Amino acid sequence: MDTAPRRLGSSPVVVGPLGLGCWPLAGMTRAGVTREAAVASVRAAIDSGITHLDTAYCYGEHGESERAIREAVAGRRDAVVIAGKCGIHWEPDAAASPPRRQVVDGRPARIRAEVEESLARLGTDHFDLLYLHAPDPTIPIEESAGELKRVFDSGIAHAIGLSNATLDQLSRFAAACPLAACQMHFNMLQREIEREILPWCVAHGVAMVVYWPLMKGLLAGRMHRGQVFPTTDSRHKYPMFAGEEFAKNLAFVEAIRPEASRLGCDLADLVLAWTAEQPGITSVLFGATSPEQVRENARALQCDLDDTARAAIRVAIQARGPVANRRAV
Ligand SMILES: NC(=O)c1ccc[n+]([C@@H]2O[C@H](COP(=O)([O-])OP(=O)(O)OC[C@H]3O[C@@H](n4cnc5c(N)ncnc54)[C@H](OP(=O)(O)O)[C@@H]3O)[C@@H](O)[C@H]2O)c1
Repeated sequence: MDTAPRRLGSSPVVVGPLGLGCWPLAGMTRAGVTREAAVASVRAAIDSGITHLDTAYCYGEHGESERAIREAVAGRRDAVVIAGKCGIHWEPDAAASPPRRQVVDGRPARIRAEVEESLARLGTDHFDLLYLHAPDPTIPIEESAGELKRVFDSGIAHAIGLSNATLDQLSRFAAACPLAACQMHFNMLQREIEREILPWCVAHGVAMVVYWPLMKGLLAGRMHRGQVFPTTDSRHKYPMFAGEEFAKNLAFVEAIRPEASRLGCDLADLVLAWTAEQPGITSVLFGATSPEQVRENARALQCDLDDTARAAIRVAIQARGPVANRRAV
């Protein structure tokens, strides 16, 4: 993999090709991830040369992800790039399981409050990168963008990003606030951004940071037919882990697995290396639930694809065909 550092848009912030996504560390994909495992995972990433740490106000009902990062980076804050997000929070919902629901709220006052609380949880005075987590459909996006510009102008965030946006929202946001990065989902089988969003970002010098490179774990190659996801595992809600779709996705994994063996790397490393080399992709955020997974995935930095692997992956993607869409956030 090309490990050269890359700049986020025209900002001063520089990241590597891989970043650690700190959502699963808060026990949000599945329950049972301990604080010790979370802290050890972040430390394992830094020790493996992965210093781009992606988190958010809502990663954990009470900022568990941000608090774990604070503990893990104590004494080496300057060695990491902390990317936070604001604009989504949790509210109790007795009818839901677990009993909570995500609320998108990008009003300026809410953004200001979340930024302050996140910085306190992180134990830092600035974000290297701060995203609007998702556009708030109830207000013009310019209102949220204006507040993020104020955060940027005050020096509290060294770069600003936007996540989960349409093309129209991206261009309106960029007209109101300097935009350094866009964050969207992207992996071998879910490549919708290639149609419009990615070309727009490339044309406008906006970095593309992608999430779900392992398709929430499926492309790491350790899932099996008949696997049942408990209700404490958010994957039970996604079509890609159910029925015929799941079977087709597992067949895809088996189609590309021989290429990983041939190149002498783990499947997750092949997948991450492929994702990182796609044109226009700036940084790839993988999630993990243990330091062992982090170390395995970090070995992707040493994984070099060849044309045989690229061709085999292309054929397997074509054979798999379109996948069922993601569920709404
Ligand atoms: N902007 C947004 O709205 C948004 C949305 C989603 C994610 N993100 C960011 O992007 C990051 C990446 O997304 P993600 O974590 O959902 O997806 P991902 O990287 O596709 O999948 C991560 C999951 O895969 C499993 N896994 C990882 N490495 C593995 C390995 N070597 N072997 C076996 N299993 C492995 C782990 O789950 P198990 O151990 O439980 O199987 C882990 O939690 C997030 O953490 C977050 O920072 C942003």
